[in-house]
Amino acid sequence: MLLGPPVLGSPEAAAQDYAPGEKLTMINCGRCHKVSEKDRMGGIGSTPSFAVMRTWDNWEEKMKAFWTYRPHPSFTQIEGVTEPFPEDRPPFVHPISLTLDELRVIIDYARSIEPADLGPDWELR
Ligand code: HEC
Repeated sequence: MLLGPPVLGSPEAAAQDYAPGEKLTMINCGRCHKVSEKDRMGGIGSTPSFAVMRTWDNWEEKMKAFWTYRPHPSFTQIEGVTEPFPEDRPPFVHPISLTLDELRVIIDYARSIEPADLGPDWELR
């Protein structure tokens, strides 16, 4: 039995104090993208974190149409927008299914994230 305040990044800490939209984003995007400091091991290495995406000038356009960018089309359904998955090509990972309203909540949450500090020289690289 652990006593004392929850350690940052622990399951105890992760269970509390979510910003609006944070949980929805973690559930839908956090499997592959590091969404916030709360997912300790969130994301897969080759996938940009939300904080990195927030440094992009066009982050909002990208997110508004994320399901059109690979690899998302093969596993994403947007209610009333996308066609059903072809029966002979089912999604290779657990699919994402969102409404446009839910995507708006995710984008509003992303707007609240502090863009990553990529360092003073990153534009030169
Ligand atoms: C199953 C894994 C997976 C899930 C779930 C996922 N993504 Fe991604 N996403 C990726 C990968 C991999 C890339 C990097 C693609 C590349 O660099 O070519 C990416 C890239 C992106 C990009 C940049 C696209 C580009 O071409 O510039 C955006 C925006 C994005 N994801 C938004 C989201 C949002 C919003 C969600 C949740 C609603 C989400 N993703 C869920 C795997 C995923």
